[in-house]
Amino acid sequence: MASLKKVQELQKRREEVQQGGGEQAIQKQVAMGKMTARERIIKLLDAASFNEYDLFVEHEARDFGMDQKTLHGDGVITGTGTIGGRPVCIFAQDFTVAGGSLGNMHARKITKIMDHSLKMRMPLIGINDSGGARIQEGVNSLAGYGEIFFRNTLASGVIPQISVILGPCAGGAVYSPALTDFVFVVENISKMFITGPEVIKTVLGEDITMEELGGARVHSEITGNAHFFSETEDECFEQIKILLSYLPWSNTDVPARKEIKEPNADFIIAKIVPAEKKLPYDVRNVIRAVTDGSDFFEIQELWASNIIIGFGTMGGRTVGFVANQPLVLAGVLDVDSSDKAARFIRYCDAFNIPIVTLVDLPGYLPGVDQEHAGVIRHGAKLLYAYSEATVPKITVIIRKAYGGGYIAMNSRHLRADFVFAWPDAEVAVMGPEGAANIIFRKEIASAEDPEEMRKKMVQEYKEKFANPYVAASKGYIDSVIEPQETRKSLLHALEVSGGKSVGMPAKKHGIPPF
Ligand code: HXC
Repeated sequence: MASLKKVQELQKRREEVQQGGGEQAIQKQVAMGKMTARERIIKLLDAASFNEYDLFVEHEARDFGMDQKTLHGDGVITGTGTIGGRPVCIFAQDFTVAGGSLGNMHARKITKIMDHSLKMRMPLIGINDSGGARIQEGVNSLAGYGEIFFRNTLASGVIPQISVILGPCAGGAVYSPALTDFVFVVENISKMFITGPEVIKTVLGEDITMEELGGARVHSEITGNAHFFSETEDECFEQIKILLSYLPWSNTDVPARKEIKEPNADFIIAKIVPAEKKLPYDVRNVIRAVTDGSDFFEIQELWASNIIIGFGTMGGRTVGFVANQPLVLAGVLDVDSSDKAARFIRYCDAFNIPIVTLVDLPGYLPGVDQEHAGVIRHGAKLLYAYSEATVPKITVIIRKAYGGGYIAMNSRHLRADFVFAWPDAEVAVMGPEGAANIIFRKEIASAEDPEEMRKKMVQEYKEKFANPYVAASKGYIDSVIEPQETRKSLLHALEVSGGKSVGMPAKKHGIPPF
């Protein structure tokens, strides 16, 4: 039994360290609309579930007056807890302590909890609020980042890694999040940049605010670095809990089964998609018309929204959805949408989550901008990701599946396990107008009434090729289904794919077009 004196000493030591950077620094944090690192952990984890490690770690720096400074916990809080009753590892950088900057011992606390999460096969959640490498500790800080990046890479595809950006994340502080699976940002609070406004001013003479350079909206809408955007920290923590409810705890685990429900009666699939091919619709409603209870948790909602990705539940199990979005740019594939979908497909494949692909697109976006932005390289990522994925892969062609878009959107040729098509589907090299103009150019030009002839040729092409039956006659489509049969067909396909087992040629790893 510990003596009362020793217990009191422990309590005193704990209280002292738990004050972080002190009252003044905490008030500054609060004035910025931010929770403290400790409050964030408590809010995110199940009540009273946090077990803190390394509370008494101290820095060892001696230069630049550091020997005179005490940095409580060395600016980061680490430990384990539970979310929804399941164990997680967590760290939260404490901006009130030396700006959450990363020194040697700070990095060692983080890498220790990372090692623990990988060894014990549980998700790692990192709450980032940091000025980057601790300048006074020189190369030791850089070494610390290197050790973190290395572990992020080792853990990639083994355990879920989640980054929450809740403050200025500068320099090295942004690269660990970039290596993790999902990045959460909060309006007005999150900032991510490699070189800050002051450096930009010095080097380039340009004035820019932190918000304009790398605020939450910038990374949610323009760069695609962030996957989830919210307006408050509370909302952000709720999003993290929802995301985790869809995920397995490791690549050898399966997601928790949920109760099976019918889709909400408001989503009537036959009414969502207009028969007129040129009219847009929101493909998210098609997803909601087939998922249990119409649930759909969208990822990267604000970026490259010509493609939709996210998790839903079917038959109680997590499914990853990839769908062209006719509401935006007619659902074309381009540089960003290819990147977005390819990475998500690899995520699902790594964590044994079946993929359902909904197809309705006119092809890849034409134009000099796209060509020069590398649409060949980026578009190839999608082909690569679908081809190498060995989880169950099911495709539904809703309307248009033209050209490279048809192949890229999980066609049979990239080893889709099941391809369904609605009766309105059109599988062809290109749309009827473009096709007729090219292959009947001479007939149209030499006709007495070229316009009349064009219409006739377009009609002829439509009758021959603009349907699902040519592809179905070759076995490229397994089944032409009525729209209202979609959920039933998908559920059946998922059910009979449970034991899927396919191999890839032996290799160290492939070389995807990164
Ligand atoms: C040491 C740091 C620090 C750092 C902040 N602080 N960043 N200490 N190293 N990198 C300290 C400040 O000195 C201050 O200490 C306290 O944290 C709070 O910082 P403020 O500047 O007062 O806060 P604020 O005005 O909110 O500005 C936050 C900030 C700014 C935008 C993050 O501090 C900043 O620009 N920091 C430097 C960012 C940066 O360039 N990092 C890159 C490092 S190089 P006191 O004692 O006064 O309270 C790097 C390379 C790695 O990371 C590359 C790997 C690939």
